[in-house]
Amino acid sequence: ATNRTFTMIKPDAVENGHTGAILEKINAAGFRIVAMKKTQMTQRDAETFYGVHSERPFFGELVAFMTRGPIIAAILEKDNAVEDFRTLIGATNPAEAAEGTIRQLYATSIGENAVHGSDSDENAAIEGAFHFSGREMF
Ligand code: CMP
Repeated sequence: ATNRTFTMIKPDAVENGHTGAILEKINAAGFRIVAMKKTQMTQRDAETFYGVHSERPFFGELVAFMTRGPIIAAILEKDNAVEDFRTLIGATNPAEAAEGTIRQLYATSIGENAVHGSDSDENAAIEGAFHFSGREMF
């Protein structure tokens, strides 16, 4: 069945001018764009979005990073969307990401890793609804 995932092109990749190249790879991999916008997360947005990580030692760094500049948020549709998108982006740590993956090509570090991809269908729905209203999905 066709399903959806949620992604963000993170502030590092937007700052470094990789937005177009990343969207091209997403398109070439067969994902359809259901919703997309450029936006900037507030401190509160980031603390809420990453709430599951609030006890991690890198939480403060993560919130500061994700709020420091604009992101591209998008909902993507494809068969097996969550798993196929995580394959396309590669491992969290770009040093461990497979050749040709978005993180291997464009990420700087484990924290500044260029893109987000939902880790489950349930989180894809929660994260998509965090950023988009029904009227912004097509
Ligand atoms: P992501 O998997 O999209 O969502 C959680 C984020 O936390 C992850 O990307 C990284 O950006 C960040 N993160 C994970 N591990 C570390 C770490 N050890 N140090 C700094 N940031 C991290």
